Amino acid sequence: MRRLLVTGGAGFIGANFCHYWSAAHPADRVVVLDSLTYAGNLASLAALIDAGRIHFVRGDIGDAERVGALLAAERPDTVVNFAAESHVDRSIEDPAAFLRTNVTGTQVLLEAARRAWGPEAAQRGCRFHHVSTDEVYGSLAPDAAGFTESTPYAPSSPYAASKAAADHLVRAYAHTYRLPCTISNCSNNYGPYQFPEKLLPLCILNLLEGRTLPIYGDGLQIRDWLHVSDHCRAIDLILEKSPPGETWNVGGGTQEPNIIVVGRLCDLIDAAFAADAALARRFPHSPAARGGSGRSLMQHVRDRPGHDRRYAVDSGRIRARLGFQAGTALAAGLEATVHWYLSHEDWWQSVVSGEYRQWYARQYAPQARP
Ligand code: NAD
Ligand code: TYD
Repeated sequence: MRRLLVTGGAGFIGANFCHYWSAAHPADRVVVLDSLTYAGNLASLAALIDAGRIHFVRGDIGDAERVGALLAAERPDTVVNFAAESHVDRSIEDPAAFLRTNVTGTQVLLEAARRAWGPEAAQRGCRFHHVSTDEVYGSLAPDAAGFTESTPYAPSSPYAASKAAADHLVRAYAHTYRLPCTISNCSNNYGPYQFPEKLLPLCILNLLEGRTLPIYGDGLQIRDWLHVSDHCRAIDLILEKSPPGETWNVGGGTQEPNIIVVGRLCDLIDAAFAADAALARRFPHSPAARGGSGRSLMQHVRDRPGHDRRYAVDSGRIRARLGFQAGTALAAGLEATVHWYLSHEDWWQSVVSGEYRQWYARQYAPQARP
């Protein structure tokens, strides 16, 4: 039986991980530490909290005193660090918040684990797993092979640079203090509970509410889409099977240009409205409610500064050594995701009721993105 501390568990991937873990390992104790930034949402965990399956603590990973006290009280043997500022566009507007949480916060957590676990951490089966991103490797040329674990780091955005710095700190703690750490660098995740600042949920909500679908630049940037449930399974395999000190790349194996992925979402929403007349009454501003196509909302807008052209991950090593294979095909994963948002309107209405509308208006104002 493990005792897990999951940081950032109220965010998109962390919440999916908590649902996954409590179903797969019901005997384990799971404590979530999350400061509930704009991206954290207790509604994503409500069912698990109410059922006593996880225990929620509000706090900042950068607060050494709070983290130290929590480790002393809960005595976790496993830390899974999801907590981060995660949106590239916000990192371009305000890099400092990314350094505070992603770099300093990770170091505070590493130091607290080192002090709590002591020099025998590895022998006692402790593990610090750090969740990172393929963005640390920078942008790939159109015909280049996918990132491997030995691709040199070349981060482009402040977000990617902060994640790269955190990875280096994790490795430094593993090397210097023998802290038993693992790292996973994964590609773009999608699925339930994703905050609608990221491309897919933003477009799904805009399709339902009749807002334009902002395509940065020519829309031919390529991402490697990974369903979040596959990502959670990969982390489980790493915790169960990987020796400490290892890094694992995790990709979905589905590379597609943004404009094609957004087109797929338009077609899925059009088909859902055609199959269910109630949707036109619930979402009267959607083009599909009037028999039109969501594709009419696609609009090219000014490109993101320093926009990485392509990411793709070579998952060969985790497949060969740990037996991981992403099982969700993009078409099926996108369809399931669209249906999740259609059937969880309460969740996303609560999420967009806060500062989201103001942020959205600023971010996508005509003068900001002509
Ligand atoms: P998210 O933005 O949805 O959630 C982040 C969570 O961390 C939120 O609940 C937030 O409240 C919490 N948080 C932020 N600062 C905190 C702090 N100082 N202390 C405690 N909690 C804090 O992010 P996500 O998409 O779920 O990403 C999770 C992790 O996976 C991140 O480390 C991210 O870099 C990494 N990642 C994400 C993707 C992706 O496609 N979403 C891809 C690769 C890697
Ligand atoms: P995003 O979901 O922000 O993830 P990341 O930047 O970490 O890859 O963006 C995915 C891709 O979609 C990226 O190439 C930027 C692009 N994009 C748009 O074209 N329009 C948008 O409104 C957003 C949010 C992203």
